[in-house]
Amino acid sequence: MVTHPIAPEAWPTADQAARSLWFSPVKLGLHCVARTRSWVPAMVPWRATDEGDVTPDVLDWYGRFARGRPGVIVVEATGIRDVPSGPLLRISHDRFVTGLARIVDRVRTESAGETRVFLQLIDFLSIRRRPDPRKYFARFLRVGASHRESLSATTGDPSWLDAADDRVRTTLASLDEEILERVLTPRELDELFMGARERVTDTHELHLRNLPGELPDRFAEAARRAERAGFDGVELHYAHAYTMASFLSRLNTRTDGYGSTLEGRVRLPLEVFRRVRASVSERFVVGCRFLGDECIDGGSTLDDAVHFGVEFARAGMDFLSVSKGGKFEDARRPRVGEAAYPYTGPSGHECMPTVRSDARGPFGRNLPLARAIRAAVRQAGIATPVVAAGGINSFALAEQALARGDADVVASARQSIADPDWFLKVQLGLGESVRRCKFTNYCEALDQMHKQVTCQLWDRIRPDDADAASAPRSRDGRRRLVAPSWSPPPSDDGTP
Ligand SMILES: Cc1cc2nc3c(=O)[nH]c(=O)nc-3n(C[C@H](O)[C@H](O)[C@H](O)COP(=O)(O)O)c2cc1C
Ligand code: SF4
Repeated sequence: MVTHPIAPEAWPTADQAARSLWFSPVKLGLHCVARTRSWVPAMVPWRATDEGDVTPDVLDWYGRFARGRPGVIVVEATGIRDVPSGPLLRISHDRFVTGLARIVDRVRTESAGETRVFLQLIDFLSIRRRPDPRKYFARFLRVGASHRESLSATTGDPSWLDAADDRVRTTLASLDEEILERVLTPRELDELFMGARERVTDTHELHLRNLPGELPDRFAEAARRAERAGFDGVELHYAHAYTMASFLSRLNTRTDGYGSTLEGRVRLPLEVFRRVRASVSERFVVGCRFLGDECIDGGSTLDDAVHFGVEFARAGMDFLSVSKGGKFEDARRPRVGEAAYPYTGPSGHECMPTVRSDARGPFGRNLPLARAIRAAVRQAGIATPVVAAGGINSFALAEQALARGDADVVASARQSIADPDWFLKVQLGLGESVRRCKFTNYCEALDQMHKQVTCQLWDRIRPDDADAASAPRSRDGRRRLVAPSWSPPPSDDGTP
């Protein structure tokens, strides 16, 4: 492990920026043109109501990004199912359209119409908090023959074979982890130490068996609502730890035609896309975010992703946004009473790499994945734009990625939180004033606790922090909820 410094940057002049690839337009789909190839990828800031509604804080969050005028903002993962899911945005019913339309209005107003705005559509399966072990053994565990046989084999006592449930439960609750590992199944151990979590492979459960029958319509209805709300497009969330990524995963062993083989695993994502495409106008952009590498044992690798990327492009997706990792399978054990979080293990680090990293470091770390996928798509004769993300914190890095052909669009998440004006500053030749992300993941730790996401840098008193007293603050009053305000200096002729 090495701690990588945030290297000083040679920022471009305004002229150089104007001639750059990063600040040149890109066409997304048949009709949508993003003014630049800069992109703020989806980020959940935990500002919605518990009912999934847009709040003034949500509007401030997106309005603040829009003032930096990125080419595209992708609004956070928004649920397509009408179920309580905490302060996550939802688009699972017509009642959400009016609120979501306000985000679009705010982005258009604050960016003077320069930023395109997409909505990320997500489906996720249920996950429970890690149980108190006593409760788990007393109530949740389904005691069966395998437990009795294991206890009998472990103790050499045949009376376990017909022991009453209560005796088995009490004894299991008293065993230490090493013995439990021999007595419980891997799934039961996972429920005990991580919390029970549904999987797409649980086809013995009707609602999970029926996902392929249900999801295309759910995504299509959500996309239709997003178009009605005025969004320029949607990003289908096929990445990280969620339902669609689980269908794409090598760990998807379903035998109903929606798993096991490459063709089977990509089938539902393609069916969802086709249903969505058929449900919206041709002006509306439809792309997806998927994983270039799952980064977990037995999971999908870049080879799978290259295949999926070509399939998605052939099917007519308008863009392919490449992410990495972020899985439950290698997540850290949560504390009892808390839920597992898919960005805490090694695959989580690959998704949001920090300065504490291996020799390769976090900067542009995931570009090789985008490059390989883009090369395969181009080899198939398809021009679908590819979006890369992961540790992009400078103009030079973005520009090199585009010049090398790693990607067609370069996204930055945390650098855009740290300084939402950074795109505009660079375009104006004011790169020296960019507030640079530290890549130590204070923001991501807040996300993990489902607390309102903010940046550690926003609360430092700075000369440009004139609005510190009036800025909206987190519930505990300690942190400002939006980045300090910034205005471009007046030009020589006095115009702002
Ligand atoms: C607070 C936070 C929330 C995020 N939420 C989402 C999300 O809703 N959907 C998604 O696809 N990625 C999400 N991400 C991942 C980012 O979009 C991005 O891929 C990742 O942070 C790596 O890019 P970066 O190095 O520029 O930060 C989130 C990241 C952060 C820091
Ligand atoms: S909290 Fe840290 S990692 Fe997150 S945006 Fe701010 S500086 Fe970057």
